[in-house]
Amino acid sequence: MLEEAWKQLENSIVEYKGKPIGTLAAKDKTSKSLNYNQIFMRDFAVSAFAFLMNGDYEIVKNFLEITMKLQSKESEMDCFLPARGTMPASFKIDRSSEGETLIPDFGEKAIARVAPVDSVFWWLYILRAYVKKTDDWEFAQSNDCQQAIKMILELSLINRFDMFPTLLVPEGSFMIDRRMGVYGYPLEIQGLFYTALLSAKELLTDNKENKIYFDNIDKRLGHLVYHIRKYFWLNFEKLNQIYRYKIEEYKENALNQFNIFPESIPSWVLNWLSDDDGYFAGDVGPSRMDFRFFSAGNLLMIINSLADRGQSNAILKLLFNRENELIGEMPMKVCYPALTGRDWELITGHDPKNEPWSYHNGGSWPFLIWYLAAASIKTGATEHLSKLIKMMERRLSRDNYPEYYDGVHSRLVGKEARSRQTWSIAGYIIAKTLMSEPDKLKILVFEESPEILTRAESSKHDLDY
Ligand code: GLC
Repeated sequence: MLEEAWKQLENSIVEYKGKPIGTLAAKDKTSKSLNYNQIFMRDFAVSAFAFLMNGDYEIVKNFLEITMKLQSKESEMDCFLPARGTMPASFKIDRSSEGETLIPDFGEKAIARVAPVDSVFWWLYILRAYVKKTDDWEFAQSNDCQQAIKMILELSLINRFDMFPTLLVPEGSFMIDRRMGVYGYPLEIQGLFYTALLSAKELLTDNKENKIYFDNIDKRLGHLVYHIRKYFWLNFEKLNQIYRYKIEEYKENALNQFNIFPESIPSWVLNWLSDDDGYFAGDVGPSRMDFRFFSAGNLLMIINSLADRGQSNAILKLLFNRENELIGEMPMKVCYPALTGRDWELITGHDPKNEPWSYHNGGSWPFLIWYLAAASIKTGATEHLSKLIKMMERRLSRDNYPEYYDGVHSRLVGKEARSRQTWSIAGYIIAKTLMSEPDKLKILVFEESPEILTRAESSKHDLDY
């Protein structure tokens, strides 16, 4: 099946001016293509990791160069133009008699006009993986790359209207690119932001002129570790604390800094956690704790070491303590539980594509297996991995590599799932490769750094909200 998956992945390659530059989101001839016939930044990241592990570097470098060209360069006050430093969610190639042109989509054409905050972070993560594998420092240190990195840092580190280290983003700004109540400080964006800062720290040229960037990266890394580990972490003990929270605490020394009302704890979570497991909440903001479990965000925290050792183990424990709910018959659920009833009506705006246990609302996405494989191998908790990959192998190829599965136990091919979905194919390839060659993991992971931990310790004083 691995061989067949490679063939499918190669089939999805797109060329521009005679060079491979990316992969289509899906190569499904049976459904309306909408924008699935474009190259998505986040989808290509999964292809890029697979290509790099296989020693195919050219397509990844070409992609990085092309997307750098598409990055918005001008400082604008015009709200109809993308902000300086941003990168598109996706792009396509227009072919006419005059030649080939790249057409980016910064969200102005996407369904529901969602703005992709994650694209720049994926770009940095891909660049870091590329350099880690190839040692092509000449490329990373080129003026163009250095410029692109600095623009991303300026865009994401600037202070705006709020006073938290986490990044405030609009609805649907990442893989969940529809209305799902993921505006504010969604976990996945914070994980990607952290990954991108770690990548920039490795890739920026160490000189006097860049000192200000390094200083700000270091400061923010420490703040993020402190804030996320302290405020987003949920285990039974923490849940009990929240259950007993006092409200309306003013100024310093508040225990309930965000004024979370204990009545907002959903009943499902009260009996869900065991003594040995835990996870990071989906979001924490003013009077808001999103108790849903989001897979990509949680697993990314293990991969980039934003989670400490104990938290990493606890997240993986939870996955298998709650295997029926979180994994079912196809790894794995994008989030848990699904929004139902009035919540679904209000939060999704009656979105039929996101009905309970479908698509982004509790559907299962095979591409997520790469996160699970990377996180399990990093922590050494691999006992379930081969069983899960075997389970995927029973269905994935037979079902023609669907984009997602539906149902409480993820048994049904998703109602509107595209087939031959590229990141389902690439995700499987990564997991399978890592199983047999775990040392290839090094291009994806970040180890915990004592320097960042020291900074996190001193963040306590700055972040005494
Ligand atoms: C859908 C998904 C998004 C993905 C895109 C292309 O819009 O929600 O995460 O990037 O399809 O596969």
